[in-house]
Amino acid sequence: MNCKRRMLLLISCVLYFMLLEYHFRDEVEELRLSDWFNPRKHPDVVTTTGWLAPVIWEGTFNRQVLEEYYGRQNLTIGLAVLATGRIADQYLELFIQSASKHFMTGYRVIFYIMVDAFHRLPNLEPGPLQTIQVLDIRGHDADDLHLMLMKNLAVHIVGHIQDEVDFLFSMTANRVFQNDFGVETLGTSVAQLHAWWYFKNTENLPYERRPGSTACIPLGQGDFYYDGTVIGGTPLEILNFIKEYLDGIIRDKENGLNSTYESHLNKYFFIHKPTKLLSPEYSWDTVLWPPAQVWLVKAARCSERAF
Ligand SMILES: *[C@@H]1O[C@H](CO)[C@@H](O)[C@H](O)[C@H]1NC(C)=O
Ligand SMILES: *[C@@H]1O[C@H](CO)[C@@H](O)[C@H](O)[C@H]1NC(C)=O
Repeated sequence: MNCKRRMLLLISCVLYFMLLEYHFRDEVEELRLSDWFNPRKHPDVVTTTGWLAPVIWEGTFNRQVLEEYYGRQNLTIGLAVLATGRIADQYLELFIQSASKHFMTGYRVIFYIMVDAFHRLPNLEPGPLQTIQVLDIRGHDADDLHLMLMKNLAVHIVGHIQDEVDFLFSMTANRVFQNDFGVETLGTSVAQLHAWWYFKNTENLPYERRPGSTACIPLGQGDFYYDGTVIGGTPLEILNFIKEYLDGIIRDKENGLNSTYESHLNKYFFIHKPTKLLSPEYSWDTVLWPPAQVWLVKAARCSERAF
């Protein structure tokens, strides 16, 4: 048995026990949806899913009500930033500069910067409520970047992040925040609609279709196509996702299959429906011209093949 597989199994077991322990903790009481969310305010787009999760578009939420609610909770929000190789050189500085202005302004934020080479770190200046932790990435699984990053993120969630933050996002660094990415995006399990595929009128979404893969979503099934560059939720939910993803990778390897990270993410959210969806306004793609339904771009990502 090779060492990499044994490592995956080990991490998977540790995650399993962590999750068991978590289920005995108290849940935070949720705000009533109708107190802050009005799906009729943004016509012509899907604002509520078939399983009644809100889809957050500009105009649908009342940030003032949310601020009153979350302002009382002394929240800390984590943002894991995946910044390897050229992404770190090209985008990290602008990412942090723009995030310190627009990401959860007024709340305590910890940026967890995941880099593979410390010498690549630019000069980063967080705002007054923000701190930066540079997380060291172990293992050089260069041919499967997401596998390596997610394994590392899981280890850090178990080791300390779960005790440091109430909510956690994970994003690739190749993006710039342009407007406020605020508390309207917080939720137990948050998925990002893919800017490109949301506006494509097609049944033929690029899900994994090979029946032998754990990421398979058969033709005719599926809800939305989610963007693999953003995921959010409680640290518990993110761990749960990483555990399922690693389990899937292990089983697929036994069958000689190899699906993309984004396919696994899409399969996860197909089985475990997200409690909140973010409109493509939260992860716009700079190469696309925004259609009329996009009222306010919060963050735009620069297309990058490496991700
Ligand atoms: C708010 O949270 C921070 C960090 O978790 C903690 O240091 C601080 O004491 C808390 N403040 C209150 C009023 O609970
Ligand atoms: C799995 O995918 C990675 C990245 O897409 C690729 O580099 C690698 O060669 C693939 N491995 C197999 C066994 O197909």
